[in-house]
Amino acid sequence: HTIEGVNFQLSEEHLAVRDAARDFAQNDLLPGVIERDIHTKFPAEEIKKMGELGFLGMMIDPQYGGSGMDTLSYVLAMEEICKVDASAGVAMSVNNSLVCYGLNQYGTEEQKQKYLKPLASGQILGAFCLSEPEAGSDATSQKTTAEDMGDYYLVNGTKNWITNGQTSSVCLVMAQTHPELKHKGINCLIIEKSQEGFVVGKKEDKMGIRASDTHSLMFTDVKVPKENRIGPEGFGFKFAMSTLNGGRIGIAAQALGIAAGAFELSVRYAKERKAFGKPIAEHQAIQFKLAEMKTKIEAARYLVYKSARDKDAGLDYVESAAMAKLYASEVAMWVTTEAVQIHGGYGYVREFHVERMMRDAKITQIYEGTSEIQKMVIAREILK
Ligand code: CAA
Ligand code: FAD
Repeated sequence: HTIEGVNFQLSEEHLAVRDAARDFAQNDLLPGVIERDIHTKFPAEEIKKMGELGFLGMMIDPQYGGSGMDTLSYVLAMEEICKVDASAGVAMSVNNSLVCYGLNQYGTEEQKQKYLKPLASGQILGAFCLSEPEAGSDATSQKTTAEDMGDYYLVNGTKNWITNGQTSSVCLVMAQTHPELKHKGINCLIIEKSQEGFVVGKKEDKMGIRASDTHSLMFTDVKVPKENRIGPEGFGFKFAMSTLNGGRIGIAAQALGIAAGAFELSVRYAKERKAFGKPIAEHQAIQFKLAEMKTKIEAARYLVYKSARDKDAGLDYVESAAMAKLYASEVAMWVTTEAVQIHGGYGYVREFHVERMMRDAKITQIYEGTSEIQKMVIAREILK
């Protein structure tokens, strides 16, 4: 499949979703975004409203509480929300593309009724737990164990850096049942927060996306019923990888949103700020920055929409999602750094937003597979 067949025409429905997300971001997220960043305050009320608007289970069929939309709609909404608040964006991304998508794709009817419905309708939030203190990029080295006890698994171990760590009610946890089978011995288990032996660790004090809720999670002899395993025995690693392919499209859209948001602020500022008797937008050095920023953002947008279109068309999107995530995250980092430069000293203080965006952009190069991991994924696709 190549770029020629890709239709980037947005339907009426796409435009309506984008406008609704834009209105929500401007009216509900923007007013408190600086305070939430300073005080690392999770946007609880805002996320609740997001659920009411249908933004937490966007790609899930309405029979399971979702909005029944395509991946492109999801990407458009993510972009608008992350133009303003990337912390709210990551909570949305994990719930939609890792937790709900994973359950919808691979869960049983009972699991969907019990867990997907409240997750997709935004009544509760979910978390996706793959990373560990000693297993990040090297994700097959899972140390958390799920011992087979007959009719239940006994789970022990620690997960690290879990988004929605405190605020989630349900966690999808990867754990090793048969170490001798390496990654083919890993299971994915649905674990409820209320279960005995499940402890939430301290909240991480982060550089960016500070309002998002990142915690380690500890499991000591947690009993998980067999019916809470997703897919057949040993499917957990495949589950994590397949789900992350779509997750990477969501993070690519987050990066695109951060870049586009910083760009819009920069254009506005460059027209207003005067130096040497004229708006800085009339100095060619600033014009060239804006031209380059827009070009890179547009290129990233094509890759992100292309990966969403590939997924919607039922094509293989491993490579296009990795390319979108790799490129959009690099663009977000570069564009936000230039945005701070365009704002001069004002760019270095909180009030003008771009310094937060620069801090927020950095995480998009790290989570859901670092830039180096995306290059490995792309290279393997090229050479296979
Ligand atoms: N899609 C589907 N299957 C995949 C896959 C993909 N993208 N990548 C690997 N696999 C499969 C392989 O086909 C293989 O399966 P088989 O044995 O059945 O053939 C299996 O997974 C193991 O793959 P490899 O042999 O390639 O394993 P590896 O150890 O050499 O490398 C890796 C695997 C691609 C590096 C993988 O470990 C990886 O993606 N690491 C990054 C982890 C990551 O992205 N973590 C994100 C955590 S969630 C998060 O971060 C959320 C958030 O912040 C908001
Ligand atoms: P490492 O894997 O130790 O990597 C360190 C460096 O080495 C990186 O630059 C990496 O690219 C490089 N490197 C590693 N291996 C190779 C290689 N083979 N070739 C070249 N370079 C290599 N995880 C979850 O499971 N769920 C979540 O909800 C979640 N949310 C997160 C939220 C935040 C804010 C953060 C910071 C992380 C989150 N993560 C989550 C974890 C995230 O996915 C990992 O941090 C990431 O995958 C990298 O793993 P690591 O931190 O262990 O770094």
